[in-house]
Amino acid sequence: MVGIALVIAKTFHDRLVAPSLLAADFARVGEEVRRAVAAGADWMHLDVMDGHFVENISFGPAIVQTVNQASEVFLDVHLMISRPDHYLQRFIDAGSDLICVHVEAPHDVGTTLRRIREAGLLAGLALNPATPLAAVEPFLGQIDLLLCMTVVPGFGGQAFMPEVLEKIAAAARIREQRHLSFHIEVDGGIDASTAAGCYAAGANVMVAGSSTFREPDMAAAITAIRQA
Ligand code: DX5
Ligand code: ZN
Repeated sequence: MVGIALVIAKTFHDRLVAPSLLAADFARVGEEVRRAVAAGADWMHLDVMDGHFVENISFGPAIVQTVNQASEVFLDVHLMISRPDHYLQRFIDAGSDLICVHVEAPHDVGTTLRRIREAGLLAGLALNPATPLAAVEPFLGQIDLLLCMTVVPGFGGQAFMPEVLEKIAAAARIREQRHLSFHIEVDGGIDASTAAGCYAAGANVMVAGSSTFREPDMAAAITAIRQA
């Protein structure tokens, strides 16, 4: 959790790079987070997976809390879990700055988004590559971030799906027409080459796991993504 002044300082015009902890060395979580921040990470992206909503199991609120204690960096927590409403308070208490829930998960989406904001956090809504934009449209006035998945969620290291670019562009158009101001984040297969198309389509927050933590020069990798 960081100060509110820092939270509101970032707008959807800013290019932000959010390294995904999923690609880090879990034996040294704190050091890995500080390595990412020293390399220029704007946000830290934390992928929570429950083995139900997605095939993989990653980590829960205890690791979010560990990361929160290791650094002041903004925590962008991506809940790939079936009942985000049930577990929400634990992730709020763990020090999340933004919590992103999936529109496909079984919960009352509007109520969950409202609870996130009422707790003083930024609210994110994610949609899978196969989910049409229409599914999130009723909630666009209630969010600070729209996460357009550019892979089927569950695992790092997958190939970017270019067909999602059209949906990103459509979301950016609706944002303009309705005078809204949410960030558009992309997640999955992002590197300097795929990021360029995402920026052009209207996304501004780039989640990147393999192309940051697994690169020999992480600072150069983050800069290359930001400047793509
Ligand atoms: C995928 C996760 C991503 C993942 C991205 O289900 O939501 O955040 O860590 O990994 P890369 O950047 O390696 O595709
Ligand atoms: Zn993610």
